[in-house]
Amino acid sequence: MQKFSAQIKKSGKTIALVPTMGYLHEGHISLVRIAQKVCDATIVSIFVNPAQFGPSEDLNSYPRDLEKDCALLKKEGVETIFTPTPKELYPAGYQTYVNALHLSEHLCGISRPALFKGVTTVLTKLFNIVSPNKAVFGKKDFQQFVIVCQMIKDLNFNIEIIGAPIVREADGLAMSSRNAYLKKNQRKPALSLYKALKQSEQLVKKGEKRAETIIGAALKLINSFDETLIDYISICNLETFEEVKIIDCPVLMALAVKVGKTRLIDNIILSP
Ligand code: PAJ
Repeated sequence: MQKFSAQIKKSGKTIALVPTMGYLHEGHISLVRIAQKVCDATIVSIFVNPAQFGPSEDLNSYPRDLEKDCALLKKEGVETIFTPTPKELYPAGYQTYVNALHLSEHLCGISRPALFKGVTTVLTKLFNIVSPNKAVFGKKDFQQFVIVCQMIKDLNFNIEIIGAPIVREADGLAMSSRNAYLKKNQRKPALSLYKALKQSEQLVKKGEKRAETIIGAALKLINSFDETLIDYISICNLETFEEVKIIDCPVLMALAVKVGKTRLIDNIILSP
């Protein structure tokens, strides 16, 4: 891969990388389309990264369908798919990790302590292997997007990070590979994340500024379904993820909710 991307660059072409864990959906494809617009060559990596899963998380059951992913990407005109194996990226004796200290201590980092250290480590490796000019990330994983931007700055990667909007199903559910886990009767409870975010947006539009009130209403809505278990609902600073009490500038409202065994996340920017 390193040699191949060096050849592409030598021919004067630019490379955009879209890192994924596969089981691709329209959200991933939207990133591919952006990559194709901003660079000459698009490389999509598909790697279910063991380093970002905790011991009791869904690494083994994470949905995989490489054949279907390749067919989808081929249809989009993607010529290069990078699919390393866990042994190739983490051979025996592997010991170097990259960690964004403070940004990882909020939101998803609390209930998933291994997550961001695994993400920044694998992305460092992918960036060094593929050596892209640009890389595209979805804002569905808003915390991940901010952490990647910080890492690029901190470690002097000469890569432009592009953030892409959240792609949703027709009913509003944010697309996610993990939606495949949802049973038919869990669809409605899963939709409560989006409904809570839209409700919050309406409250802010009507003039509500107190985070506590908005979070309270979101809690009530999501808890009205038996199958939901809230991990967190946070209204916080867009850059530091510190909790905000009064909304007097654009803030991030982020939430993580388990629907049955499936952990879903979603977010919205609230602007007064
Ligand atoms: P994965 O969950 O496969 O997501 C790959 C990329 O697709 C991420 O940038 C994510 O934010 C984006 N994405 C997922 N669902 C989206 C949606 N509904 N709308 C817009 N973008 C969406 O995120 C990861 O993989 C991994 O952590 C990875 C960065 C590949 C590192 O292992």
